[in-house]
Amino acid sequence: MKIFLSISLFLCSTTYLYAADLFNGELQHSEKCTGCHDSSIYSREDRKVSSKPRLVAQVNFCKNNLGLMWFDEEVSDVVEYLNKHYYKY
Ligand code: HEC
Repeated sequence: MKIFLSISLFLCSTTYLYAADLFNGELQHSEKCTGCHDSSIYSREDRKVSSKPRLVAQVNFCKNNLGLMWFDEEVSDVVEYLNKHYYKY
């Protein structure tokens, strides 16, 4: 099911101009990204991420540490989700 979803997302994204899917970002984040840190890390006072490019880099870093095989679109969904809710760059 998950594979099917990923494939259909991929097909959609190559057919149409891709707009980040915040709902998917939230879903992926809650499924994969809350094992080591919770969301409070994104809004703590001395947070590491200080710009949008750094947010992209950090999401990729954590993703790669986890060994997730995400498409760029899924990375950008999660980046936009985090940016909208926490970072606001
Ligand atoms: C294997 C453990 C682990 C998992 C799972 C993990 N992270 Fe992280 N993450 C870390 C560590 C360690 C830090 C750095 C914490 C620090 O510097 O205090 C971090 C920091 C971050 C930060 C920067 C927070 C700040 O200070 O601004 C972001 C953004 C982030 N992670 C996103 C993600 C995303 C997105 C995922 C899911 C793909 C994810 N993380 C999954 C370990 C993890």
